[in-house]
Amino acid sequence: MKNAELHAESVPLTDIAAQFSTPCYVYSHAALTAAYQEFEQAFKGHDHLICYAVKANPNLGILSLFARLGSGFDIVSGGELKRVLAAGGDVSKVVFSGVGKTAEEIRLALSWGILCFNVESESELQQLNKIAGEAGKVAPISLRVNPDVDARTHPYIATGLKDNKFGVAYEEALRLYRMANGLPNLSIHGVDCHIGSQLTEISPFVDALEKVLVLLDKLEAEGIHVAHLDLGGGIGICYSDETPPKVADYANALFKKLAGRSQKILVEPGRALVGNAGLLLTKVEYLKPGVDKNFAIVDAAMNDLMRPALYDAYHNIVPVHKRNGIPKNYEIVGPVCESGDFLGHDRMLDIAEGDLLAIMSAGAYGMSMSSNYNTRPRAAEVMVEGEKIHLIRERETVEQLFLLEKTLPKI
Ligand code: LLP
Repeated sequence: MKNAELHAESVPLTDIAAQFSTPCYVYSHAALTAAYQEFEQAFKGHDHLICYAVKANPNLGILSLFARLGSGFDIVSGGELKRVLAAGGDVSKVVFSGVGKTAEEIRLALSWGILCFNVESESELQQLNKIAGEAGKVAPISLRVNPDVDARTHPYIATGLKDNKFGVAYEEALRLYRMANGLPNLSIHGVDCHIGSQLTEISPFVDALEKVLVLLDKLEAEGIHVAHLDLGGGIGICYSDETPPKVADYANALFKKLAGRSQKILVEPGRALVGNAGLLLTKVEYLKPGVDKNFAIVDAAMNDLMRPALYDAYHNIVPVHKRNGIPKNYEIVGPVCESGDFLGHDRMLDIAEGDLLAIMSAGAYGMSMSSNYNTRPRAAEVMVEGEKIHLIRERETVEQLFLLEKTLPKI
């Protein structure tokens, strides 16, 4: 905050709104870089690879920054692989997660020679072996094991319990590794797990690692060598008053368990790298005093940022210009025709029509989960670097939205 006006690095947010209009996602080059460096620093005591979870924010500008910093990538579709390639990412640092990889996606990833397939079922093992054979390749694999630990996070984003669709049951893992070991076109590289997202405690990560290590010992005892352990993503960030672990504390807790182990450690952070490096800039269109509630109707909506509507997630909302009047209680809502279209409840704000608001911590799962509901073109995205503003995604136009559609033929 400089002169009571919010800035992104050295650029006033008002300038960004004037130049690119609203709603607009704004990311900080410095904050993205610092978040990545924090992981590198924390893990430097052990052979490691940071694989940015592309789904958190797949913009090519963001991917190209991480690629330059040396990051690997965790992908969940052929589309994400093509993005990594288009952004200049190193394909030999790509891991491919996901429960439903199609034959086409598998062929694409095999042809590019990715680092590892994180396999999530017995059927996928067989499918991968078959396709690799047809392509004359050997597919590098890990099995994603489900360690059945409670990540103590929102149920929609907890993935490590045995009721989840993800990974193979812990009890099944040994049998499936033996099977994989016998399949001619697969080569075992690692063990993988991911237990959930927005975790604010270290202990579930440690519990999961302990179970992975028990499995690892069993594999080694059978002569099945494992070169890396992929511990997934999931470290939370502060949206309001959470106290997520410091990356260094998380890494050190893992290192304690890993003492004497030679395996390379992979982690797949998404939110922790981008979440607090981005905000959604929006304009107050109308103020509408209600009987019980005051509404501030802004030009961003659930289609731009769906986390509040989907998870009842909290995002701090800050006026770009501070006023000196008396704050009132507002529901911050968008123009979409759904009562669930809110961005914040019960916010005490001193605002007027035309004011700009910054919806904070919107760098992860913001633009990446956006849609065109209500035929709303998606927001522009910019990355600020010092005094420079890089436009990394133009605002969509309505015409672009129906480019692929057709009216019925003439009667
Ligand atoms: N690896 C795998 C296999 C994942 O499924 C995920 C996220 C990650 C890594 C990255 O997790 P992170 O470090 O970002 O927590 N849309 C939700 C979050 C869904 C997370 C899905 N998987 C949200 O907005 O909170």
